[in-house]
Amino acid sequence: MKVLAYTLPLLAVMMTGAVADPLAERQELMKERGPLMRVLAPIAQGQQPFDAAVVMDALQKMNDNAQKTTDVEALWPDGTEGGDTKSAPKIWEDKAGFKAASDKFAADAAAAVAASPQDLQSFQAVFGPMSQNCGTCHETFRLRSS
Ligand code: HEC
Repeated sequence: MKVLAYTLPLLAVMMTGAVADPLAERQELMKERGPLMRVLAPIAQGQQPFDAAVVMDALQKMNDNAQKTTDVEALWPDGTEGGDTKSAPKIWEDKAGFKAASDKFAADAAAAVAASPQDLQSFQAVFGPMSQNCGTCHETFRLRSS
């Protein structure tokens, strides 16, 4: 529940357009993606049984999350490239490229929800393209773990 208690006020702040702590908020959004992938990936790989309700719930959360990070200007403003961040300098050198990568992920996440997969095969068909965005973007725009 700690995560929820943190996320709700965060959403309220974001909806008013003011982002109090962009660095903390973008990291919080990224951190949410890990557990969602740990639900979705084993199902896509056939290690967990396909359950349409579980899949839709996680896809919806991933999509909500993905739409938020398209606000690149709010979450990666100038001046937040230093400090405790894994965001690569490349983001600020190529804002348009980073915005395009964020938009593509959001579009693929939205498409996955819209497909409303009812079986493993149709889920795999949307999960593949959506999850490729993680690695592609990290490759260019995220610093490697130190
Ligand atoms: C458009 C670019 C982009 C996409 C797409 C993206 N990420 Fe990230 N991710 C980042 C950046 C940039 C950071 C570093 C944020 C910071 O520290 O400021 C990050 C950080 C993270 C972190 C925090 C851990 C760490 O290394 O600090 C996790 C977990 C994560 N991403 C998971 C995912 C997953 C899972 C997906 C796909 C479902 C995904 N991300 C898609 C750009 C992206």
